[in-house]
Amino acid sequence: MIVIAAYSHKGGTGKSTALMALASAIEARGQSALLVDCDPQRNFNMYRLQAEEIGCWSDRMEVRYLDFEATGVAHLESDLMAAEDSGRFDYALLNLAGVDHPFNRMALRYAELTLLPFKPAATELAELGPALEVIRGLEREGEIGAARVLFTLMRPKLTSAASAYRDAALDGFPVMETRLRDTAIFADIVMRGLLGRTLAVMEAQASGLEKMQVKRLGEALDDCRALLAEVDSILLNARLAT
Ligand SMILES: Nc1ncnc2c1ncn2[C@@H]1O[C@H](COP(=O)(O)OP(=O)(O)O)[C@@H](O)[C@H]1O
Ligand SMILES: [Mg+2]
Repeated sequence: MIVIAAYSHKGGTGKSTALMALASAIEARGQSALLVDCDPQRNFNMYRLQAEEIGCWSDRMEVRYLDFEATGVAHLESDLMAAEDSGRFDYALLNLAGVDHPFNRMALRYAELTLLPFKPAATELAELGPALEVIRGLEREGEIGAARVLFTLMRPKLTSAASAYRDAALDGFPVMETRLRDTAIFADIVMRGLLGRTLAVMEAQASGLEKMQVKRLGEALDDCRALLAEVDSILLNARLAT
């Protein structure tokens, strides 16, 4: 079971979206995932409920909630071990709360890959450096797997001063090349849960304008697959290196 975490020191950076994009691609290729909400926002649960309503969820995807302030990280560990032992899941996706908290620092130790979604906006920059510092600290201790900053917009619109500040914060930290399309499609990923399922349902009944929507959903699913392919190759290289 491959554990992938999304981490940042603030909300709204794209953690839930990135993990749901991965979940869509994982499901679309016939694999399974345990989706762990460690963020009180419980985005996974919300997506599941919305998708179930339109018949687009999958029983290969299971959502679980962990209250990071009330339960210790031991709880997460035993959940992950039980999931691994059950043999039911190819992946576990950890949606961490957007805060710097000891629970998150511990949780990152279980991740084979940590994604740090980053929106290129000046307001996000202040949080990036400290989040990377946490990762670098864990790397020095040999306590974390691979980690990548994930740019969440196609064309980062930063002033040159902000770009310089971002590059200084990154300081050579690896970024992910795959970028999810900056279109209204993202609202669809969030609203519709698992895109492969949604597509199958919509394709069967689409007419007129809906065909345009089917096409755009198909493109969004391609973006999700590209993200998963990038993740695959990072994991493969990380395994070869050890
Ligand atoms: N790759 C992306 N491209 C464009 N918009 C995105 C992207 N990722 C997230 N967003 C948007 O940013 C907002 C916050 O994303 P979300 O995944 O909910 O963040 P978080 O889980 O970190 O709080 C949402 O409105 C979402 O649609
Ligand atoms: Mg979220």
